[in-house]
Amino acid sequence: MQRRSIRAFLPDAVDRARLDALVEAACLAPAPHHSRPWRFVVIDTDAGKHALADGMGAQWRTDLAGDRVSEARIDELVSASHVKLTTAPALVLGCLTWDGLDRYPDEARRRAEWGMALLSLGAAVENLMLAAADAGLASCWVAAPIFCPEAARDALALPAEWLPHALVLVGRPDPAYVARERPAVPLDELRTTR
Ligand SMILES: Cc1cc2nc3c(=O)[nH]c(=O)nc-3n(C[C@H](O)[C@H](O)[C@H](O)COP(=O)(O)O)c2cc1C
Repeated sequence: MQRRSIRAFLPDAVDRARLDALVEAACLAPAPHHSRPWRFVVIDTDAGKHALADGMGAQWRTDLAGDRVSEARIDELVSASHVKLTTAPALVLGCLTWDGLDRYPDEARRRAEWGMALLSLGAAVENLMLAAADAGLASCWVAAPIFCPEAARDALALPAEWLPHALVLVGRPDPAYVARERPAVPLDELRTTR
């Protein structure tokens, strides 16, 4: 399979039209009962990248301090993450909304419905990354916003009902980057049959 997580980019910008094509590919993903519970934010300005990195970094700093991580280590982690986000040529932030989802009176079904939306966001992000690979672009999924959706939303002044859950770095691949080794699939451990 051609797609790999590539974590190093050439500094060249990626055209907005190209980024829009990736988002369109994402929006062809399967979703529960014909909904489109996703919203995507294309972030390719320095101001946008810094706002997001600063907002999520501040929340991460608080979380790490609560975990009693040393200040030096916090600085190291948060600044590495800041550099990663602000030097990528473009970021695409995947958000979830309740738009089009069914509403239930009980918590168990509400959670299941939201879980379906999350699954479909994962499918959308995979579509986006496959389309990027097809276009010769590098991409890497970054987990950060799922740990601080409100901080990511507010950093970018997004609507209150958009909850950021997935971030993808996109750019032209640095040819010097070597993708991490991908272990063979241990099929017998991961699947059973009945
Ligand atoms: C939900 C999710 C979160 C991820 N978060 C990160 C991340 O924060 N940083 C990172 O470098 N890679 C991240 N990855 C990429 C995985 O590390 C990568 O997909 C995995 O190592 C397999 O490598 P491959 O994508 O090249 O096949 C994430 C992947 C997923 C699906």
